[in-house]
Amino acid sequence: MLEVRDVAKKFGELVALNGVSFKVDSDCLGIIGPNGAGKTTLFDVISGFLRPDSGDVRFRGISIVGKKPSSLVKMGLVRTFQLIKVFKHMSVEENVLAADGDGDILKRVGLWEKRNLLACKLSQGELRKLSIGLALAAKPKLLMLDEPFSGLSSAESRELDGIIRELMDDGISLVIIEHKLKELFKLADRVIVLNFGEVIFEGSPEEAVRDKNVIEAYLGKSENHVGN
Ligand SMILES: Nc1ncnc2c1ncn2[C@@H]1O[C@H](COP(=O)(O)OP(=O)(O)O)[C@@H](O)[C@H]1O
Ligand SMILES: [Mg+2]
Repeated sequence: MLEVRDVAKKFGELVALNGVSFKVDSDCLGIIGPNGAGKTTLFDVISGFLRPDSGDVRFRGISIVGKKPSSLVKMGLVRTFQLIKVFKHMSVEENVLAADGDGDILKRVGLWEKRNLLACKLSQGELRKLSIGLALAAKPKLLMLDEPFSGLSSAESRELDGIIRELMDDGISLVIIEHKLKELFKLADRVIVLNFGEVIFEGSPEEAVRDKNVIEAYLGKSENHVGN
């Protein structure tokens, strides 16, 4: 589905990504790592918002480096943003209208009842669901979510978990950046760990929580216990 090969990206002197390689052929890949590790930059490179300094990104067998985000969306490579982007002064329904003739998308993300509300009236969890609805409007084959559980209550998190599971059942591949490991590890069958722009671990969630390097770089930090 997706292959990242030896990707590097600098901002001036700052090395944001260094020799990053991995493949997405699983149903759901998790990406974790400390703040500033390069996770969002990696999404920006894959989704065409940033051009890598070197390396290659291949989607369904073809190189996509240099392609615009809009062309990638048409190919089925779609991402959401850490800071939610929706049309706040349109109604929920208007946000997805062009693509959602029968309301299927709003029903899938649990917002059908709220369709006439202005998006700016939505809670954080509802906004997150709407941003996923916008992404679904593009009919993704691969959907990349940047911290989808951040700021959600536990009830909202449970609901989002169900929505994401249905997307997986529909055959959409997922890549999810997330700090809330309890939520992520329920969904991801594989994880990679980024630290200072490098992949320091790749494997199952169960292996990740036992890995010495992962514990030292990330899990050992008090705010990142799997239980929270
Ligand atoms: N557009 C940018 N210009 C300069 N530095 C940036 C830019 N975007 C990210 N960075 C820097 O690159 C590093 C990785 O950032 P980011 O990818 O956002 O990390 P993460 O998402 O893992 O928290 C950080 O040090 C950040 O400050
Ligand atoms: Mg980030």
